[in-house]
Amino acid sequence: MAKSFLSIENLAKRFPAPKGQRDPLTVFENVSFTINKGEFVCIIGHSGCGKSTIMNILAGLDAASEGYVFMNDREVSGPSLDRGIVFQNYSLLPWLSALKNVTFAVKARHPDWSKAQVKEHSYKYLQMVHLGDGAEHRKPSQLSGGMRQRVSIARAFAIQPELLLLDEPFGALDALTRGTIQDELLDVWSSTQQTVFMITHDVDEAIYLADRILLMTNGPYARIAESVEVSIPRPRTRDTLVDDPAYYQIRNHLVHFLARRSKEMSENQDKIQPAPPEVVRFTTAQGSDPRPPVQLWERHPPPQERKKAV
Ligand SMILES: Nc1ncnc2c1ncn2[C@@H]1O[C@H](COP(=O)(O)OP(=O)(O)O)[C@@H](O)[C@H]1O
Ligand SMILES: [Mg+2]
Repeated sequence: MAKSFLSIENLAKRFPAPKGQRDPLTVFENVSFTINKGEFVCIIGHSGCGKSTIMNILAGLDAASEGYVFMNDREVSGPSLDRGIVFQNYSLLPWLSALKNVTFAVKARHPDWSKAQVKEHSYKYLQMVHLGDGAEHRKPSQLSGGMRQRVSIARAFAIQPELLLLDEPFGALDALTRGTIQDELLDVWSSTQQTVFMITHDVDEAIYLADRILLMTNGPYARIAESVEVSIPRPRTRDTLVDDPAYYQIRNHLVHFLARRSKEMSENQDKIQPAPPEVVRFTTAQGSDPRPPVQLWERHPPPQERKKAV
């Protein structure tokens, strides 16, 4: 039975009852979705709904209260170099140069590689994000915000994780720099065929980058309500993207969701049965997409029957 590359099943996160309240705080529950190998999936939702928590659970840095995450049919438990993560705040080691921040990670991934091999591989990834010509020897404090984030991206891709997790990686950058790094990210993603799961609050960024956009309702009791397919053909450019009739439909749908439906849906929780997100698709300039909607849900056997991931 063919399973998805990544499968998230009935995930919930609860915290002990806040002071003066009887019930525990349920940040989200019944979160189920899948990601196919090589897909670029974005998730949007209001601040505090639990996006970073989901990502940290996928990274193995946080534990779910309920539910499971399977990658390649193995349950995710604990961090692994198969899952690379890029945070908004760069998280580089300040005492190491840009290059050494990358070689440090590559060495951990490939302990058997020679020094020269590690350096060559690391430098190649720095060049993909247009860092080189001496900039690679600078320490993070001597780099601009955009350059630091490029180093983080190069480092994450250089370890060639099967799944790359990006938590609002461009949130702190100015619009121009953000646009450039988005293009670099797309270049690296398409040449490496890695799978990307990215949190963003920018709807245009999500449409430009993603194959699919997951929409998360407001918390508490947040859930992933819809999976919006972005079947606008690639390569996309910013000026031709806006010529596609699907662009405005998707954009309106996302803006409307954030402005109104994310709250309405969270207020009507009790009427909703636990279910995978509803698939939403718009017709693109190339006509209606003939493929069947992405298979979103396939339950795994109970986890005690499966091997734990290392
Ligand atoms: N230790 C904790 N105790 C109680 N609530 C917490 C704790 N850590 C996080 N939360 C709550 O979990 C929610 C989700 O946070 P987060 O995943 O960072 O949201 P997002 O990334 O969508 O902005 C927030 O509302 C936050 O208040
Ligand atoms: Mg967050």
